[in-house]
Amino acid sequence: MSDKTYPPSDAFAADALIDAAKYEEMYAASITDPDAFWGEQGKRVDWIKPYSTVKDVNFDLGNVAINWYADGTLNVAANCIDRHLAERGDQTAIIWEPDDPKDDAQHITYQELHAQTCRMANVLKGLGVTKGDRVVLYMPMIPEAAYAMLACARIGAIHSIVFAGFSPDALGARINGSNAKVLITADEAPRGGRKTALKSNADAALLHCDDRVQCLVVKRTGGQTTWTERDHDCTALMAAASTDCAPEEMNAEDPLFILYTSGSTGQPKGVVHSSGGYLVYASMTHELVFDYKPGDVFWCTADVGWVTGHSYIIYGPLANGATTLMFEGVPTYPDASRFWQVCEKHKVNQFYTAPTAIRALMGQGNEFVEKSDLSDLKVLGTVGEPINPEAWNWYNDVVGKGTRPIVDTWWQTETGGHMMTPLPGATAAKPGSCTKPFFGVHPVILEPTTGEEITDTVAEGVLCIKDSWPGQMRTVYGDHERFEKTYFSDYKGYYFTGDGCRRDADGYYWITGRVDDVINVSGHRMGTAEVESALVAHAQVAEAAVVGYPHNVKGQGIYAYVTLMNGVEPSEELRKELEKWVRTEIGPIAKPDLIQWAPGLPKTRSGKIMRRILRKIAEDDFGALGDTSTLAEPAVVDDLIENRMNKG
Ligand code: WT7
Repeated sequence: MSDKTYPPSDAFAADALIDAAKYEEMYAASITDPDAFWGEQGKRVDWIKPYSTVKDVNFDLGNVAINWYADGTLNVAANCIDRHLAERGDQTAIIWEPDDPKDDAQHITYQELHAQTCRMANVLKGLGVTKGDRVVLYMPMIPEAAYAMLACARIGAIHSIVFAGFSPDALGARINGSNAKVLITADEAPRGGRKTALKSNADAALLHCDDRVQCLVVKRTGGQTTWTERDHDCTALMAAASTDCAPEEMNAEDPLFILYTSGSTGQPKGVVHSSGGYLVYASMTHELVFDYKPGDVFWCTADVGWVTGHSYIIYGPLANGATTLMFEGVPTYPDASRFWQVCEKHKVNQFYTAPTAIRALMGQGNEFVEKSDLSDLKVLGTVGEPINPEAWNWYNDVVGKGTRPIVDTWWQTETGGHMMTPLPGATAAKPGSCTKPFFGVHPVILEPTTGEEITDTVAEGVLCIKDSWPGQMRTVYGDHERFEKTYFSDYKGYYFTGDGCRRDADGYYWITGRVDDVINVSGHRMGTAEVESALVAHAQVAEAAVVGYPHNVKGQGIYAYVTLMNGVEPSEELRKELEKWVRTEIGPIAKPDLIQWAPGLPKTRSGKIMRRILRKIAEDDFGALGDTSTLAEPAVVDDLIENRMNKG
């Protein structure tokens, strides 16, 4: 092997749920006979009515239909709570660690989780929410967010979580986009010692929504001041509600949730996930990828506003009867030791975070890690973007003391769960590679222009998946045509991931980044078109083009080229104003890192912006601009190069 590899220790492999031989055997079986394989795996979930069919899938453009366990019925909340009560009713289901370490953590048992989820479910029912209705959540990382998700699942309502860092405009669009009946929010969200005024953001969003949308307000800080006619005090209603609520019998293919994610064109799309297949997949990946064993404490540092939080804070761990940690704060508050202090305090066994957090903490120095007792850690994980070897090595050496397997999990909002990742007891890791496919996942690398499958082991091209897996998204909410067009039209018969990928001589996969106009900022997906449309909505902006550029901590930063309206002079004030403008239009994560004033943008004679050139300039790689002969006005490029922004 050319790259340095890090195999699991013999001791770890001997104890692991899956070792190398078992991986090979099970993987082969999963690809040869998916029906038999997934038919067996489906049993990890409790069904009300068992399924008689397993996989029923069509990837053909115009007829795309994805069904798993289609005639089975179940309830996801009952699987995450009720079925554990007899054996582990008094076991902690959720450890809640508040933003301020001086405040008390909570240990919520499965019994308590049951009671609170039922209360919340009854509150929702009281507002008229029934099976199939949509409920939007805009919440801090507090236990009520988990109760709300599970309460929706219990009564068959479809939740759609909007990350609490998104703006009122983005929230309003998502409430309207799914025609939601209820919004659940909290008064304020404490994070890193500061507070976000969630309720006032919600009020601003609801100005653009139907008057019939009701708002449930959870008390977090007590900082709530204004009450409108549509508001209800969720905390008070829950206290008065019954702790009994029968779970609704749902079809395997009934939607469990909608989650909006950015694409290369247009506004974010509502990714729809199923109940049965999704739960099977979330539960199986959580158990095997983290080698989760009963009694372990599992911590995924994501926010429930992202898919990682859905699958690996809530659904996967709870389906497995795990103890899952939910953290309200940020890695650097009160200081850069917080993650490690929380690991020590709650004896965390599996720790799952993002490369951007690792890079940020690495920059703060080792003493923050070294002062914490991390002896309970068994497995470390990363997700969201490729991890650079330097960060991988620091994670391995300083956090893992060189003895904990690292799982670099590649997946997407659309895939519901891990797709390519090492299994900690089976796979020798290579820093920066997501290594091998999970069971049932059949990755292929296609030649980008012809769409031909490259069958040589060593290959580079676009990454597609050849066949379905149970966690796959089912549709784009309200727009099945967009679903087909986005994922099944460029490469016929395959699911197109949007990622570029390389396969090395050992058959290991290396994600090379997006091949579309999507950028990855701190592990969060951002459509360049979204940021552009926010910029051009400003009265003084004539035109804007947004690209990514390499950023030390965030992975990619947002680089915006802005052409101002005739007669408007560029200024520092205007730059600040545009930054603020994008923050309020979309949210802080979309704020451009660099704005370059562009008197003109490089366009073809037919008026198409040549983003390839803009990307190269943003990357300081303008020696290799490639073919510029089709440019309408070549001089524009010289100006852009000359006035390019300094990356500092
Ligand atoms: C995109 C999906 C799935 C949860 C987090 C992000 C990139 C994700 C990795 C990884 C290299 C990765 C891909 C993917 N990505 N994980 N381990 N190595 N790239 O979910 O917002 O849907 O973004 O994130 O480009 O397509 P998302």
